[in-house]
Amino acid sequence: MDSPILRNEMDKADPPVSEFIHVPVLGAEVVEGLAVHAGGHYLDATVGGGGHSRLMLEAAADVQVTALDQDGQAIAAAQQSLSDFKQRVHFQHTNFATFEPGSTQFDGILADLGVSSAQFDIPDRGFSFRLEAPPGYAHGSTPGVNSGGYYQPLGRN
Ligand SMILES: C[S@@+](CC[C@H](N)C(=O)[O-])C[C@H]1O[C@@H](n2cnc3c(N)ncnc32)[C@H](O)[C@@H]1O
Repeated sequence: MDSPILRNEMDKADPPVSEFIHVPVLGAEVVEGLAVHAGGHYLDATVGGGGHSRLMLEAAADVQVTALDQDGQAIAAAQQSLSDFKQRVHFQHTNFATFEPGSTQFDGILADLGVSSAQFDIPDRGFSFRLEAPPGYAHGSTPGVNSGGYYQPLGRN
């Protein structure tokens, strides 16, 4: 059962961007697999709270990261958490499927596919299966579909 304190925090309509920040899994493997090197430019196609981008930026001198996310709240969280790196991070609020790299040649690309726990924890995003809210699946800037009508005839069982 949720503690009342945690529950109250999650019930806020406008959650702090810190809810997006998480400790990345396989951080060392990501840096090693991408062979992050000084002066390299990497694409983080799903920046989320910025955990993996931070590891890349810290792994070598003068690394640049282009950081995408289709979720505006995730971009806001990453802008805050990666503010130390200033002009070494280039944010774009976009679906990676429609991203246009132009003439940029990336030295490596990371796509940590899925959802952030914050997207489950914010009731009005419509993903939560613990908190009362209409289902909607608002994953990006586009409002999610109101899919409640699909489920109601099925009943609880
Ligand atoms: C597991 S989280 C990434 C966490 C991130 N690696 C970190 O260290 O904080 C996945 C992120 O991918 C984003 N995402 C999912 N599909 C996307 C798409 N098609 N284009 C851009 N971002 C997408 C979600 O909004 C979410 O923020």
